[in-house]
Amino acid sequence: MKTRLLKSEEIKEAGRILRNGGLVGIPTETVYGLAANALSSEAVLKIFEAKGRPDDNPLIVHIANLDEIDDLVAYVPPVVYDLAKAFWPGPLTIVLEKSDIIPNEVTAGLDTVAIRMPNHKVAQEIIREAGVPLAAPSANTSGRPSPTTAQHVMEDMDGRIDAVIDGGPCSVGVESTVITLCTRKPKLLRPGKITPEEISKVLGTEIEIDDAVFGEILDGEIPTSPGMKYKHYSPKANVIIVDADSDDFRNYVNLKAEKGKVAAIVFDEESKGFNCDILFFGKEEDDLAHANTLFSNLRKCDELGVDTVFVHCPSAEGIGFAVINRLLRAADFEILSLGGDEL
Ligand code: TXA
Ligand code: MG
Repeated sequence: MKTRLLKSEEIKEAGRILRNGGLVGIPTETVYGLAANALSSEAVLKIFEAKGRPDDNPLIVHIANLDEIDDLVAYVPPVVYDLAKAFWPGPLTIVLEKSDIIPNEVTAGLDTVAIRMPNHKVAQEIIREAGVPLAAPSANTSGRPSPTTAQHVMEDMDGRIDAVIDGGPCSVGVESTVITLCTRKPKLLRPGKITPEEISKVLGTEIEIDDAVFGEILDGEIPTSPGMKYKHYSPKANVIIVDADSDDFRNYVNLKAEKGKVAAIVFDEESKGFNCDILFFGKEEDDLAHANTLFSNLRKCDELGVDTVFVHCPSAEGIGFAVINRLLRAADFEILSLGGDEL
């Protein structure tokens, strides 16, 4: 199959492909999605094939108008309207009880469905043009870092999907916040730009944080959000998160650079004095820049062909919570803390 790279104006063509059961890589504000008609089992199965995605990992259904939700879920809890008013369109995904029109392939057999209204003009126009809700996971090969440009989608999906629409780089850079309203108390399943504090404020009640957000899921445990159990976001290089001050971090990385092919993801202001390839994370205080650069930096490690990448651990403030959550999954849930004596 030849994968076409479409311009952001070519909405009609994207809509046509999607209506005919094809796959299109689409820009959203978070990451690029791999979209198919969410109401067609056949179309949705192609997503799993193209990504090599395990079939027990459910997809997010994307809508462009709030009233589209009525047909997709069994019922709409009133609080959804408060959340939509505060955060939609935007990077929040809400898990609700599904209706019968959602194929089991979308939800991986669960009786719940994840819904999101992306805040990206091109994504919204494509959904409207297709005339159906769109199931769309991130448009990477399963396990790879999520794509934040059309070129990243091409790297992974060329020859596997019908087209990619180029809408420029994503403004957020990490995937949406996922919450479920189907547990006894509302629960955060995946952190993103919209923080648990912001959500709690709208809900008027504390939101629980799922255990999987922090740690590894043990074999045999049933995760609330199936996607959380897989190793994710990994370049081929080993990822090591290092919690240290700038001097200790630099000394440690330079020591390791003497023995192997390594790279470091560093804050802009500490970029001097490294004896290896460095990639820029943004300023230390700029949590949004860390989110923006994370996945493209992890992809660049593969281009550099390094064996190990050392990432200077960012603060967990704001979207930093989501950045660390993704880094932990790329690094097998370990953070190396340097107090000075390890050197
Ligand atoms: O920002 C995003 O959410 C992007 C863009 C394209 O919209 N999409 C995305 O999709 O990140 P994906 O498939 O890579 O991640 C979906 C996450 C997975 O962790 C999955 O397990 C969870 O949402 N999920 C989907 N449906 C669910 C459900 N019914 N119950 C619990 N978790 C669900
Ligand atoms: Mg994904």
